[in-house]
Formats: sequence, C-alpha cells, structure tokens
Amino acid sequence: MWGGRFSVKPADLMQAINVSIGFDKRLAAEDIRGSRAHAAMLAERGLIAPADAAAIQDGLKRIEAEMADGTFPFRDEFEDIHMNVEARLRELIGPAAGRLHTARSRNDQVALDFRMWVRAACDRSVGQVRALQRALLAKAEAHADTLMPGFTHLQPAQPVTFGHHLMAYVEMFGRDASRFFDARERMNQCPLGSAALAGSPFPIDRHGVAQALGFDGPTANSMDSVAARDFALEALSAASICATHLSRLAEEIVLWATPQFGFIKLSDAFTTGSSIMPQKRNPDAAELVRAKVGRVLGSLTALTVVMKGLPMTYSKDMQEDKVPTFEAFDALELSLNAMAGMVADLEPNATRMAAAAGGAFSTATDFADWLVRALDMPFRDAHHVTGAAVKRAESMGLEELASLPLDELQAIEPRITSEVYKVLTPEASAASRTSYGGTAPAQVRAQIARWKDQLR
Ligand code: ARG
Repeated sequence: MWGGRFSVKPADLMQAINVSIGFDKRLAAEDIRGSRAHAAMLAERGLIAPADAAAIQDGLKRIEAEMADGTFPFRDEFEDIHMNVEARLRELIGPAAGRLHTARSRNDQVALDFRMWVRAACDRSVGQVRALQRALLAKAEAHADTLMPGFTHLQPAQPVTFGHHLMAYVEMFGRDASRFFDARERMNQCPLGSAALAGSPFPIDRHGVAQALGFDGPTANSMDSVAARDFALEALSAASICATHLSRLAEEIVLWATPQFGFIKLSDAFTTGSSIMPQKRNPDAAELVRAKVGRVLGSLTALTVVMKGLPMTYSKDMQEDKVPTFEAFDALELSLNAMAGMVADLEPNATRMAAAAGGAFSTATDFADWLVRALDMPFRDAHHVTGAAVKRAESMGLEELASLPLDELQAIEPRITSEVYKVLTPEASAASRTSYGGTAPAQVRAQIARWKDQLR
C-alpha cells in the first residue's frame, strides 16, 4: 500500500508484530458498512465517477457475501481488515478500488469501525442484561413471600424475602444497562472524514455519512476523532461494573448451593459432577461467572494503560485496543447469558430458608422496636433490654427469642406482655417492613410491577 517510497520489504518480525488481521477481522462488517457509506458520499459529491462508485458498491457487496459464506481470503500480508478489504476489492473490480480511499485514512477508518463495534456491543449487552433482569423478576415474583435471612457481614441480620433479595440485583443490573446507554450516547458521533488527523481538503459531507451510519452527527475535532478511545474505556468501565455485579450474585449462588446453606438447588444443566466424588454437584457455571470479571476488569486496565501518555493523535499503540475489548465483551456476554440460565433454573428450598430466617435471633430488632412502640422505651434502652434477652436465650441453648418463656422476659423487663411474641416470627418481621423499598411482600410486589412495566 505504501510501496512507492520503500525499496525493501518489511522484516518477518516487523510483519509479525504489525499484523492485526487475526483479530481485527471481527471489524469486517463495520468496515464494509463504513466503506459503502463513504463511497456513496464520494459519488454524491462528484468526487468519484458514478461508474466507479457502482463498481465499488458491487465489489463491497461481493466481499460481504464472501465474508458471510466464509470464502473471503484473509491474508496476513495485507496487515489489517482495512487493507484486506481494499486488496480484495482491487482483485474483484480493478483499479477503481483505489478511489475508495479518497478523503479517508486508516486512522479515521479504524476509529469508525471500532466505534461502531463498541456501540453494537453496548446494545447487545443491554439486551443480555434485560434478559437476566427478566429471569430475576420471574423468580422474584414467584418468591415474593419466600422468607430467607438477610445478611450483613455475611451474618444473619433480619428476615427478608427471597424476592426482595433478587430484586436488589434487578436494581443493580438496571443501572448497568443505563451505564451502557450513557456510554452509547456519548460515543455516538462519527469520526469518518477526519482523515489522517487534520481533516480533508475534499468537499466531503461528514454530516450525511454520520447520518447514514446511525450517528447523531460527526465528531467536531479531527484530531480528537482519530486519537480518542475513551468510548471504549467507558464501555469497558460499564462492562466491568456489570461483571462485578455478576460476580457477587455468582458468589451467593455458590454459597446458597452448599449443603451447609442448602438454600437453593441448581439445575443439572448448570452444575457438573466430580470424576472421583460421586456425591458432588459443583456450581461451575457460577464459579466461572464469578471469575470472568477478572478478564473484563483486566481489559479495562490493559486499554487504560495503552492509552495513558499517548501524544496526539493516532499511534500504533492503539491497535492494541481491540483484543481486550473483544475479550471483555465475549466474557460479559457469556456471563450474562449463563447467569440468566442459572437464575431461571434454580429452585429455592423454602423450608430451609424459612428455618434459617427465624434462627440466629433474626427478629431481635423487632423485639426492640416493640419495646419502643408498646412501652415507649427509648431505642437505646430497648436495644440494651433486647441484648439481655438474647444473652439469656443463648445461655439456655435457644436460637430464637420466640422460644424464650414470658417469665424469663419479664425477669429482664417486667412490663413485657405476651403481645411481644406476635412480632417475633420471621413472617411478621418481613411483613412489617412496609417502608418504601422495604422487604414487605406488598412492597416487593410493587417494585416487581414497576420493573415489569419498565421492561415491557
Ligand atoms: N490496524 C490499525 C489499527 O488497528 C489501523 C490503523 C493504522 N493506521 C496507521 N496509520 N498505521 O489501529
């Protein structure tokens, strides 16, 4: 492509370090789409002859078909996707192919292709996040009344419902989707026509090309256009946060599926056996989702380090943007899809969960709140009295305040009546938390309804 100035071919090692077709072939669809829009604009502006424009469009269509049926000859000697397509175009239509690169550089071309790829990846991620949210919503609706212990510090804290717990993730994934939307909106400007870095002397129509390619408009600074990769960094940040949320849910699934917790049973479809221990049911999919965040966050780190300290404008360093980005979105897609499958399939053990919800003095707060309400005790005093009751129950080998006889309670605080037992069941505890966003089944159902509406 640049043979005019060179007399010796590149060293084999030069080619080995330079070649990117092995991975940037994933930009093929974007590259052809961008070229077709560019060629159409060149023709419209009279920058190439109608016959040449028609030949180019026809050739690009044939290349598209070759890509689709797997016959396109990807060749290392043409370095990257842009030159592979152009070289093939020349084979197919002859010298007219050389006119396609008028008013364009590979710098704005790759900026365009990659931006369109990342934009589509954000859109796909939103779709996958939505599918996961729907799976969570369906489970949450089925279990809006299913009691389980809520934890802080992974210590049993207060009874909640399984539906409420799952809805916490619906909220997190909802924000993840909105981060992908935000990133998309900011990146949706077309860099094509910025050429190498300074813009083009030809009377090109950047607004028209931007519109044809689904952008809100053209980028406003030609140097920024070819130098910027923050759109990818932002998408990778959103992906990293989303993968972090996935890893938290994955970790809970791993815990819940242990015989020690016994809260859920994963389906056979999302567990594996052991080659030596016949009794094992291993939550491999959940473990892998828990791990994949390493790749996603690693990709964000990798690209951030690549971009750090790069002077304006394009540097070949930026070719290293693609592999981590592709890898991150591949990992995220698998994780989101596997998680949606696991969630849809898992079955909670309501009996185990309810038993755990009532144990470990989970309604101690309800006891203290009753003292505040019924006896007009300051909360700090109520906290103290409750602590004494828990201590007494513990010393008697009990696990629930409800099991402590009334005379024992009255020995601590004589004004306590049998009315207090009404608030000490996990059902009563959860049902009482009717504040907006609380775990009361009615509140949970209201949030489920709101989300179902939103996702409709
Ligand atoms: N393969 C290159 C990349 O991915 C395309 C841009 C090359 N531009 C250049 N001036 N060498 O970044």
